[in-house]
Amino acid sequence: MNNPGFLSSRSTLGSDVSYLFAVVFTLLFLISGVFAKKHKGLKHHRMILVSMSTMFLYFIYYYKIRRLGVSSMADEIVFSGPDWVYQKVFRPALMAHFMFVTFSISLAVYMIANGFKTAVKNKGEMTLKNARLRPSITLWALSLVWLAFLAWWLFFVHQFGWGYRIMFLALGYFIPAVMVALIQKTLPESEKRHRVLGAICIGLFAGLLVTSTLVYCLLYVVEY
Ligand code: HEM
Repeated sequence: MNNPGFLSSRSTLGSDVSYLFAVVFTLLFLISGVFAKKHKGLKHHRMILVSMSTMFLYFIYYYKIRRLGVSSMADEIVFSGPDWVYQKVFRPALMAHFMFVTFSISLAVYMIANGFKTAVKNKGEMTLKNARLRPSITLWALSLVWLAFLAWWLFFVHQFGWGYRIMFLALGYFIPAVMVALIQKTLPESEKRHRVLGAICIGLFAGLLVTSTLVYCLLYVVEY
């Protein structure tokens, strides 16, 4: 994976494949958003499932080569530009990218569950039913399983400092959990919830595409 890449002179095969993979899955999500806008519910649903599968494949691959971006946080990826670009442009872009990753992925997982709960098949097409939703005890219990897994990974699999542990716990569990609680309070109707959060989720995927391209260009394309 450390062989020379094919997209730019400085990149590696690993960085190019992971960037292309990220572009493909974000574009697939954006296309499924277009189907939803055109009220093609069934195509939208199928495309979301394809996008989600591509995204999971990407994460398995990315975990293998870059430990989910932890190496870029720990400065293992060499940034070849001047220090001021690193401090003023690259680091903020990387942070924004991590934010988009965290929020878009957690919202997408939530939206899939919400889609299955809210969509109904109607004469060969899929539409959304409008019902009042109550917080799901099962989902909250599952989220605690995820929290336990995350804590095990942070405390026993990797030797992170306390700063990183707190950041990963906040981004990986506590911020999404607060968001879900807020959603349950402010958007109790299922159809409106799917449309409003779906539009936000598609916007986050567009941000993800922009920030991953920016980080890739700053690392491998821009000549300093
Ligand atoms: C990441 C996951 C998802 C996102 C981001 C998403 C996004 C959206 C958006 C933005 C809309 C509203 C478009 C508009 O009218 O402005 C929508 C509608 C819809 N979604 Fe999703 N969705 C997701 C998952 C799902 C899943 C898993 C299903 C089915 C199981 C589903 C079924 C539908 C249906 C039936 C509609 C209504 C289409 C119509 O207006 O006729 N969605 N979705």
